[in-house]
Amino acid sequence: MLTILSIETSCDDTGIAIMKVHGLKKPRFEILSNKIASQIEVHRKYGGVYPLMAQREHAKNLLPTLKSALKEASNPTIDIIAVTKGPGLSPCLWEGVNFANDLAKEYGVPLIPVNHVEGHLLVSLLTNQPLSKNMFPAIALIVSGGHTQLILVKKVGDYTVIGETRDDAAGECFDKTARILGLEYPGGPAISKEAALNTSNNKPSLPRPMMHSKDYDFSFSGLKTAVLYHHKSQSKKTQSSKKYVREMSSEIQQAIIDVLVSKTLKARDEYSAKSVILGGGVAANDELRKQLQKKLEKTPLFVAPANLCTDNGVMIGIVGFFNWLKKKQTKKVIADPNFRIG
Ligand code: KG4
Ligand code: ZN
Repeated sequence: MLTILSIETSCDDTGIAIMKVHGLKKPRFEILSNKIASQIEVHRKYGGVYPLMAQREHAKNLLPTLKSALKEASNPTIDIIAVTKGPGLSPCLWEGVNFANDLAKEYGVPLIPVNHVEGHLLVSLLTNQPLSKNMFPAIALIVSGGHTQLILVKKVGDYTVIGETRDDAAGECFDKTARILGLEYPGGPAISKEAALNTSNNKPSLPRPMMHSKDYDFSFSGLKTAVLYHHKSQSKKTQSSKKYVREMSSEIQQAIIDVLVSKTLKARDEYSAKSVILGGGVAANDELRKQLQKKLEKTPLFVAPANLCTDNGVMIGIVGFFNWLKKKQTKKVIADPNFRIG
């Protein structure tokens, strides 16, 4: 048995988790504490995340978050520390990495660098079921505020990115279109809430960019522009009406889902995947989860509970464990904002 402390600061959430890992081959992750200091209220005023402001918040939140995690976990002996190396916002990553470097030195324990995207992937694969050979090859769809990638997973640690967004990420599209509609940051939950309230069938029709392209790439900036033009063409009265906002939210969400689901199915078929993994903040979206599972029919869909889809420390600890098995520890982690998976 092993106790891992893990730290996540790649964007606007300060996440610290403490987990016990039972078993090496088929590890089971027991969460002793999963603390998140959210900065949503700080960034809401500006409708998005400002890296230097986010860094300042991490600096303020790291120590109190660590203390409350340790307290909740009853001050266990920590065996290893894992931290997000990247990808993410440079000042934010450095805040977490410097903190982890100091902490590992103080505790005298191994320090493990972790890829954030792999965190989203493995937390979805392993929170509800143990690791099994029958899962692979798998296709992972990782959709968040910063990433939209389709990844072929041959086993834990063996990843090939087969497609990704050429411009905005899916979560970014939710955030930007929500802002156009006058909804709050973060846009994903706001749009999905409005979409669920829509009762009209008279929806505007938005494009499904690159849905039928032959590759596995995505593009969401055109969708955002289409929303902007549609919005601009409406009267002030319509723009601010609940009916318009709900119809538009429903269509935005459906357009994003249609593209994501269609490309994921195509990848599943081409690579004869035995399972599909859905991860990242956008994976918290109920409609996406439902519609993807329905279209996949018998192919199992692995997705974490919604609170572990958005950024957190648990996802970093899970990857930290596998990296520790592979002896990927280091004396000092260096942040890499462009760190790629695979
Ligand atoms: O993974 P995450 O917490 O941070 C990044 O790594 O980017 O993802 C945050 C993103 C935001 O863009 C947010 O709008 C989106 O995830 N999101 C959602 C939902 N909850 C969060 N998008 C759609 N539906 C949701 N329920
Ligand atoms: Zn993330």
